[in-house]
Amino acid sequence: MTEILAQPVTLSYLAAAALFVLACSGLSKHRTAVAGNIAGALGMAVACGAAIALALASDPTHGIVATAILIALALSIGAVIGLAAAKRVAMTGMPQLIAILNGLVGLAAVLVSYNSYIAPDASSAALGRFHLGEVFLSAFVGAVTFTGSVVAGMKLEGRLPGRPLMLPGHNWWNLGALVASVVLGAIFVSVPEGSWASWLCLVVMTLIACAFGVHLVLAIGGGDMPVVVSIMNSYSGWASAFTGFLVNNDLLIITGALVGSSGAYLSYLMCKAMNRSFISVLLGGFGTDATTATAPVGDVDGEIRETSPGRVARMLSASKRVLIAPGYGMAVAQAQYPIASLVQHLRKAGVEVVFGIHPVAGRLPGHMNVLLAEAKVPYDIVLEMDEVNDDFASVDVVLVIGANDTVNPAAQEPGSPIAGMPVLRVWEADKVVVFKRSMAAGYAGVQNPLFFKENTTMLFGDAKDTVEAIVAKMP
Ligand code: TAP
Repeated sequence: MTEILAQPVTLSYLAAAALFVLACSGLSKHRTAVAGNIAGALGMAVACGAAIALALASDPTHGIVATAILIALALSIGAVIGLAAAKRVAMTGMPQLIAILNGLVGLAAVLVSYNSYIAPDASSAALGRFHLGEVFLSAFVGAVTFTGSVVAGMKLEGRLPGRPLMLPGHNWWNLGALVASVVLGAIFVSVPEGSWASWLCLVVMTLIACAFGVHLVLAIGGGDMPVVVSIMNSYSGWASAFTGFLVNNDLLIITGALVGSSGAYLSYLMCKAMNRSFISVLLGGFGTDATTATAPVGDVDGEIRETSPGRVARMLSASKRVLIAPGYGMAVAQAQYPIASLVQHLRKAGVEVVFGIHPVAGRLPGHMNVLLAEAKVPYDIVLEMDEVNDDFASVDVVLVIGANDTVNPAAQEPGSPIAGMPVLRVWEADKVVVFKRSMAAGYAGVQNPLFFKENTTMLFGDAKDTVEAIVAKMP
């Protein structure tokens, strides 16, 4: 039975792998994102179908019916929990959800590797010491991913303090954990399989890896957790790839490698957009030197000028070119819908409107783009930072809606906690209107001199309410 299925299953895996690659490429652009999502879902359906068929055919101990019931039970429990979690979580809580899912992938990798050590299948057993290496590596990466993701999720939820918690000589602890794991790994593959010494090595290494994951992420400021989640996402991919070797599943190896490498690349892009060192993030030192939610708030002196929805409506009607710079506050307020309707009004009145999206605006890569697409804002007016940054001098009005750090001129001053971070140079426009609820600092905890500039006016209030009020006042 298993032999008959071997070829169709291999072909299905190949098709699923191709669909996953298409999904990655589709998701990289607005226009093709929906198609990319469908390709990914289709690939996952093909992969699950093939894997289930193979599992049903190759379980000699329980029989097809019992195995089918077990699989259906596991799928139903997973689906119920998954659906409930996905329905409950707000867009702003997405990083936490992703952190938890990454952690579960890590935990699964640990369990599969222990299972594969206790009861290896025939092909794994034939690999001998190489298989033992796979078991060890998979358990190590899985355990680091599991505990690291749990800590990242708890920091994001605010259940653990956001500030970096550093043990004295924390880099030496990390190095010690790595060296100890390598030594334990060498002993594990050399001693007789199943002996107490081999079990001791595996269990002690798993405990060290769990502690290593906790220590690595605790040392990073809560402010930098989104980058950590992306790195953990990459680790979970590598853990899956190792699991693929263990259970002899080529598709899992390919998918794991795709997740591992794309997660690493995404982390690199995030670090670049925040002017951070990728290596220091990987080593767990990121966020300790600068931008964290607990960084000191810089003092800025000066006066602020308040405005009203009516005045902003008149200002907008009198302008030719308007740029909207959205940020995290737009997501919190869910202001994308009134913003879309404001854009419609302005375009109808012949005003040119574009969006300028900072690469790390919000809390997730592409956060703003997703929200604007949801509100049906045309893709062609949603531009990236580099496409608009040299043109601010020709913009009449910039609406900064719930953005703060990403438009902070302090980033251009040496010594500022966000020094070097590329920002949207909105202050070069003729007029700037900042939409926010208070004078509170942004994510990096740094005060924003933009609010005190002569061409800036502040429109205080929830962004959804203030934009709706402007739309109501439009002629
Ligand atoms: P932030 O600097 O986080 O500022 C958001 C602003 O929105 C706050 O000043 C807040 O002021 C305002 N706000 C919150 N709720 C609001 C509401 N209901 N109505 C109106 N305003 C509201 O935002 P940003 O400019 O998007 O910057 C993103 C930050 O996240 C950067 O520091 C970036 O480095 C960091 N980060 C992003 C990512 C990714 S991938 N996006 C990853 C890691 C870190 P009030 O409280 O006064 O209203």
